[in-house]
Order: sequence, then C-alpha cells, then structure tokens
Amino acid sequence: MSKSKNILLAVTGGIAAYKAIDLASRLVKGGYNINVLMTDNAQHFVNPLSFSSIIDKPVVTELFNQESPIEHITLADWADLTVIAPATANIIGKIASGIADELLSTTVMATTTPVLLIPAMNTNMYTNPIVQSNLKKLHNFGYKILPPASGRLACGTYGEGRYPDNEEILFAIKSFLTHQQRDLEGKKVLVTLGSCREYLDPMRYISNVSSGKMGLAIARSAYFRGAEVTVVAGKITEKLPHYLNAVEVTTSAEMAEQVFKHSDAMDIIVMNAAVTDFQPIQEERDKIKKESLSDTIELAFKPTTDILKELGNRKKKDQILIGFAAETQNIEENARKKLVGKKADMIVANHINTAGQNNTEMLLVTTNKAEPVSGSKLDAAHKMWDFIGRNEL
Ligand SMILES: Cc1cc2nc3c(=O)[nH]c(=O)nc-3n(C[C@H](O)[C@H](O)[C@H](O)COP(=O)(O)O)c2cc1C
Repeated sequence: MSKSKNILLAVTGGIAAYKAIDLASRLVKGGYNINVLMTDNAQHFVNPLSFSSIIDKPVVTELFNQESPIEHITLADWADLTVIAPATANIIGKIASGIADELLSTTVMATTTPVLLIPAMNTNMYTNPIVQSNLKKLHNFGYKILPPASGRLACGTYGEGRYPDNEEILFAIKSFLTHQQRDLEGKKVLVTLGSCREYLDPMRYISNVSSGKMGLAIARSAYFRGAEVTVVAGKITEKLPHYLNAVEVTTSAEMAEQVFKHSDAMDIIVMNAAVTDFQPIQEERDKIKKESLSDTIELAFKPTTDILKELGNRKKKDQILIGFAAETQNIEENARKKLVGKKADMIVANHINTAGQNNTEMLLVTTNKAEPVSGSKLDAAHKMWDFIGRNEL
C-alpha cells in the first residue's frame, strides 16, 4: 500500500538540511513517490542537485514559475503527506501565523493532507517560548510534530533541538500516512518490552529471543496517537525512540519494581516484555570456573514475580490491562486461560516465530472475541489500538 503514496519532502534552512538527503534516499528505497521542495535558505546549506540526483527529477524551489504557474496548488493536491525536515523556527512561526510569502508556506497553506514537522535548531531557539507556543498552536490545528532529540548540537552546545534519527522519522511517516487519529490524547500508557536476563554468575545469564520490536511498535503508535508513553525496557535490538519516557532494566525483578512504581498512574498497561518466568536460585558472585563443574550441570530455578497477575489483582477501575502470550501451540486456548487467570482485559497472542521479525500475525483475544490482525508490527499495533478504540474489550 505504501508503494503508491506521494510524499512532499520540504527542506528548510537549518544546519541539519544535509540529513534530509539520507531521508530522501530512504524514502525512494521505501518505494514512495517523492518530490523535494527547498526554501531559498535551505539552498545555502545543501545544493538541490544532491536531492534531484536521488529522486531523479528537479527540486522545486520557485513560487513564481512561468512553466508551472500554480506549483503550490499542484504540490499541495499531489501530496498524501508533507514532511518538513528539518523545520526551522522561521517556517514554524510562519505557518503558525498564517504567512504564505514563498513556495513552502504557500503550499502548506493550500494543503489538506497531513503535514509532519521535524523541528531542529539550537536549544535556546527551540525552548524559546515563542517557538514553543507556535508548535503548540500547530499541534492544536492538527499538524504532526516529531520532537527533536537531545544531545550535542552543531553549534557545540548540548540540549534539545537535535534532528532525530531518520529511522524514527520513517516510523512517523509510515504511521501518519495511514493513521491520523489522536484517540489516545490525554492517556498515560505504560508498555513493557524486550527480554529480561537472569544471571547465573557475572558473565552468564538465561534469557529469551524477544527483540522488543513489537513493544516498540505499540509504544510508537500510542505516542503518535497522542498518548504520553512510558516504556520499561529490558534488552532490545533497536535504539529506544527519544520521545518516550524510558526506564531500562535487566532482570525480571527490576522490571517488576519499575512496573509497580509506575502502574497506578497509568490508564493503559501493555505487558509486551518477555519476562523470564524463572530465575536461578542462586547467582554466583564470582565467575563459575569450568574446572569446578562435572560433566553434567544441574541448575535449580525458582519462579519470578508474575507481574501481569499482580497487575490484574491491583487493577484500578477503568484501567485497561493487556497481556501478551507468545505460544508455539493452541494459541487461542492458551490466551483464553491467561485472560482469565491474570484478570486482563485482552491477551494478544502470537506465535513465537514472529520474534525479531518486522511483520507479525497476532490474535486479539477478549472475553467475547478473537480478532486476527497482521502486517508490519507498526500496522498491527495501530490495528490493536483501533480495536480498543471501538470498545471491543
Ligand atoms: C549557519 C546557520 C545555521 C542555522 N541553523 C538553523 C537551524 O538549525 N535551525 C533553525 O531553525 N534555523 C537555523 N538558522 C537560521 C535560519 O537559516 C533562518 O532563520 C532562515 O531565515 C530560515 O529560512 P527558511 O525557514 O525559509 O529556510 C541557521 C542560520 C545559519 C546562518
């Protein structure tokens, strides 16, 4: 479906303009139809030729153009999504004020499809109350905004304002092309994800194959739908998105502690992490030496805290509790047992072989229903929120 979508990539005059070249390249590789628009000031930073070579067509730069006199309307009608990356304080201010005095601001004024802004600038510029107020105004008008990351900025200072990873921008693009609803606005969502480790000694541990990709898709999609998202993350194979409140843990005991610390304040809890069900009875302080072992090794385990069950017991009125079940057989039957046993509102059951993959097939199991959803993990996560939004719990 994404193959035929039209994306207008608009580049403004920020120091991060060069990073939009990589974004254009990834979008072309992703199969999207791309047009690139550059402001006059963006061309001080990057030559349009860099973009035109990637998209294999000219970059649009002129509002008053004899050959294409109403370029701004043509582009606005063509785009399924406009992405302004990077978005300067200047363009944010102009759009928020209704100014249309060059090609980009005029095109945005004529656009009826979603516009995604990627603000990137010096920290003092970003935290300036005027910029913050403009961003809030744009948010209230329905503009999509991916906040900048924190870190070292090109001007040598540290703080908020950094252009985010293009990988995160791609997730936002994929999300906003298909899902624009803000049905989780005002909701606090807790998502656990990844795998836990239980140590035998300082070097060795038992764990499982969970990558955290599904949990990240749930957290990202919840954030894009307006939720304030906290993640308690075990070990994962990807970088945590900069816009989530994240707590990183290693063992199931640490995960339990952090989940119980945050759970009371949450409207929705999604227990996606693959928490280890058991842990060694003893964790050796020093490395177990090979010579100290005989031919066969016997390890003794004890159960870990059943976090989902405990959350089910503590569940507040109106709180939604969702558990995950990775199974190898009798998927629905096992999910139904878990639904009742843990007092959850829904169990998302999936086959264990989807771990680490980018796509998934899941079964949303509630008291009355078993709805299959599939697709990319981000897409499946959105379908899960759609299901919850239809009050099907
Ligand atoms: C070296 C340099 C770097 C700049 N970097 C940024 C930036 O990262 N973000 C930003 O908002 N403005 C930045 N500016 C200021 C913008 O270029 C300026 O506000 C300009 O008017 C933006 O024009 P445009 O929004 O039409 O592209 C920078 C200016 C210079 C000279």
